[in-house]
This record gives sequence, structure tokens and C-alpha cells, in this order.
Amino acid sequence: GRREDLAGRHVVVSAGGTREAIDPVRFIGNRSSGLQGYALARTAVARGAEVTLVAANVALPDPAGAKVVRVESARQLRDAVLTAAEHADAVVMAAAVADFRPVRQSDTKIKKSSAEPDPIHLAKNPDILAELGEIRRSGREAYAAAAGDGRETGDGPDAREAAGAGGPRPRVIVGFAAETDDVLANGRAKLERKGCDLLVVNQVGENLAFGTPDNAAVVLTAEGGSVEIPRGPKEDLADVVWDLVAQRLA
Ligand code: C5P
Repeated sequence: GRREDLAGRHVVVSAGGTREAIDPVRFIGNRSSGLQGYALARTAVARGAEVTLVAANVALPDPAGAKVVRVESARQLRDAVLTAAEHADAVVMAAAVADFRPVRQSDTKIKKSSAEPDPIHLAKNPDILAELGEIRRSGREAYAAAAGDGRETGDGPDAREAAGAGGPRPRVIVGFAAETDDVLANGRAKLERKGCDLLVVNQVGENLAFGTPDNAAVVLTAEGGSVEIPRGPKEDLADVVWDLVAQRLA
């Protein structure tokens, strides 16, 4: 049964939506509430997993039993996810990550006094999901290189552990995608482009997804399969995702 089928597994879940600062009071953000990611974290705890929840701007209480890392921007979310992923069995990227950020963040509040507003120039954010797949393909040293920030690159006990019995980490990578049209074709192309094992594809519209307790989705697998999840509570969708993850880890 489900109850303890993730015991001994370390899973990482990202939730919420990133914010990209324009100045100290303004940002570019999105409507993600974090409800689906939190449901994933809660259900994983219930199934016995050690859970790291990377939460971007979520106004929900910390789920009991999970380690919660709060972040704001895509680059902070990337650092937190890559750090935790190095020792993870599975990573589920449920967060809505901003694709772009303002090139320049003003240190002071931008005034409206000028005659013409200044344009906001954007730079591309890293695609964390795609990066996880690349790092897994290229081996463990890639973590230190990707994280960059002064971490050791030698073969410590961590390197042996990561390269050891379990194989390259994370062993299972799960992405989410919200599509408005050609849901299956777009989802399939996205799964291949991002190199993940499972892609949970939501049809947006019809009052589903953002900020609602219910969700409906199709989960695409790297082998070309698909599992339909009918409309229902986000917990139910989360449990189907963990069923598929547990199968792949077994
Ligand atoms: O490309 P798209 O934004 O539709 O992909 C969605 C999936 O990719 C989600 O799992 C999201 O968490 C992840 N993503 C990411 N980094 C980005 C953009 C999206 O990890 N910069």
C-alpha cells in the first residue's frame, strides 16, 4: 500500500511562484498560490519521505514534518533546489518560475516624476528543470560547478555517495506544465526538451489550477505513456504523482 512507500526517500518539491524585483517595492510575479506544491509536500510526508519544500512567496503555513526553504526569485529557487537535489531521490518542480527578470534592479523606489517611463529590460532566467536533467546526465561534479558559490569539487564522501548505488541524482525528475492548447503535443515536446521523467500537464482555463483546491491533469512519462488524473483535490493528484515516482524508484 501507499502508507510508507516513500520511507527512506528524500524528495524535493518546489512550490509557489517566483518574484523578480524591479525596485525595493515592485516585482514581476505570477498567480501561483503554492497549493499544489504544498499538497505534494504533505502527501510525501504522509508516505514516509524526508521532504525538502522550496517555497517561493507562498502564504501558507509550513507543512508539518517538511524542511521548508523560503525563497523569492528564480535564481534563489535554483540555488535551493540544486543544493537539495544533490542528495535527492526525486525532485518535483511544481513552482511557477519566472522566465525573465529585470536586467537592473533599482536600489531605490522608481519615481513617477519623469515625463516618459523607462522601459524595463529583461534577461533570461535559468531553466531549473532542464538544468536538473543536464546535471544528472553529466554527473555529480556538475552540481558543484552549477552551484558555483565556493563549494568543494573534490571526491569527498558526498561524491562517493552520490555516484554510488543509487546512480546519478536525482533519480526521478518531475516537471509541471500549464498548457492552453494542443495540451498533449505541447506537453510531449516539453518533456523531451527538458529531459524530465514525468511531466504533469494541466489544462488551464475552466477555473482550474491557479488558487483553486481542485486540479486535473495528464501525466506524461518519458517512455511515451500517459496517465489521466480526473478533476479532484490537489492531494489526489499529488498521490498519483507519488505513485508514479515510487514505481520508478522501486
Ligand atoms: O517551460 P515551462 O515554464 O512551461 O515549464 C514548466 C516547468 O518547468 C515547471 O516544472 C517549472 O517549475 C519548470 N521551470 C523551471 N525553470 C524555469 C521555468 C520553468 O524549472 N525557468
